[in-house]
Amino acid sequence: MTDSEQAFGVYIHWPFCLSKCPYCDFNSHVRREPIDEQRFLKAFHTEIGTLAKRLRGRTVSTIFFGGGTPSLMQPATIAGVLNSIARQWRIAPDAEITLEANPTSVEATRFRGYRAAGVNRASLGVQALDDRVLAELGRMHSAREALDAVAIARTVFDRYSFDLIYARPNQEPKAWASELKAALAEAGDHLSLYQLTIEPDTPFAALHAAGKLRLPDEETSRALYDTTQEICAAQGLPAYEISNHARPGGECRHNLVYWRAHEYAGIGPGAHGRLDIEGERHATATERRPETWLSQVEARGHGLVSDEVLTREERSDEFLLMGLRLAEGIDLARYAEVAGRPLDPDRIATLHQHGFVETTDNGRLRVTLPGFPILDAVVADLAA
Ligand SMILES: C[S@@+](CC[C@H](N)C(=O)[O-])C[C@H]1O[C@@H](n2cnc3c(N)ncnc32)[C@H](O)[C@@H]1O
Ligand code: SF4
Repeated sequence: MTDSEQAFGVYIHWPFCLSKCPYCDFNSHVRREPIDEQRFLKAFHTEIGTLAKRLRGRTVSTIFFGGGTPSLMQPATIAGVLNSIARQWRIAPDAEITLEANPTSVEATRFRGYRAAGVNRASLGVQALDDRVLAELGRMHSAREALDAVAIARTVFDRYSFDLIYARPNQEPKAWASELKAALAEAGDHLSLYQLTIEPDTPFAALHAAGKLRLPDEETSRALYDTTQEICAAQGLPAYEISNHARPGGECRHNLVYWRAHEYAGIGPGAHGRLDIEGERHATATERRPETWLSQVEARGHGLVSDEVLTREERSDEFLLMGLRLAEGIDLARYAEVAGRPLDPDRIATLHQHGFVETTDNGRLRVTLPGFPILDAVVADLAA
């Protein structure tokens, strides 16, 4: 799939986890009572049907079950959602269908069921390969258990990826280098490597404010980032996006839909969408609280809480912000089409002189390796 090919992705959000990790601010909730999956399945079915009336004739190129922890869903629920999608739209024969999974032994037992339902790619939240660190991160699995789940994913799915979090408290580049090499030995065609972010209103934010989390300083963070780029590139998985590494062709096609500003539907509690309707781009968001979302869908057929047409400026800023995260950068002609004017050549020239961006022969603008750590500033400058 290239930048210019049309793509349509469907994102399904499962908003529950067995416990809440202290660093995480995703829309995920812990419930003591069992979840009524039948009721959720019906609501997913309803919301997909309502949306499809506005988006006729689409061919689905990617589907992504994200969370929360979608690997807590029964395979029959996943199959039901895929059925609902297939009843409304054509699913491309080569569609990428990903499910995010927590790497515990219980969840790995469901992998074959997901495969039978149609999932062909798994993304596992391994986070670290050190049991002490996993405990600090509040994870419910050991490193061994996670690697066992990776081994099962390797045999069950066509493709798999896993996530690690780095730039963790007290982490040194040397230790990270050996952990990363051990991870690469287990990797398939894709790895997501996220630098720990302290999200507001999380237990980690409180610990940080109290001086109880010693995060790497700027210099160490930079060294950790550089180490990551070098080791992954040397192993044949260069970064194709700030935090995502793949062998050529192994990129997550669903995430490329977001970064290349293609169209996607967001289904389920707290899901976001970007819909192209009659030449306008709609930004949609649904109700975040699972039970409220359920009642809304049951009462009026959808859980939308906002549906706004983006202005030309909002669209072009988003195009820059998302596209410049990619190593392939953006197509300058496509930018000019979206924005109604080209990017300022003087600003590009100045950033170029500083070594933060480069232009390619085929008319693309991309951020360089030294530019990536200051991406937000580069985008702000270009968008000004
Ligand atoms: C929405 S989570 C879902 C994955 C799955 N529930 C799990 O935890 O295994 C997706 C990924 O985001 C990353 N993540 C979540 N919070 C983060 C934070 N504060 N900083 C860096 N990465 C984070 C983790 O690597 C996680 O695997
Ligand atoms: S990191 Fe994953 S398991 Fe942990 S709270 Fe967030 S979504 Fe749930």
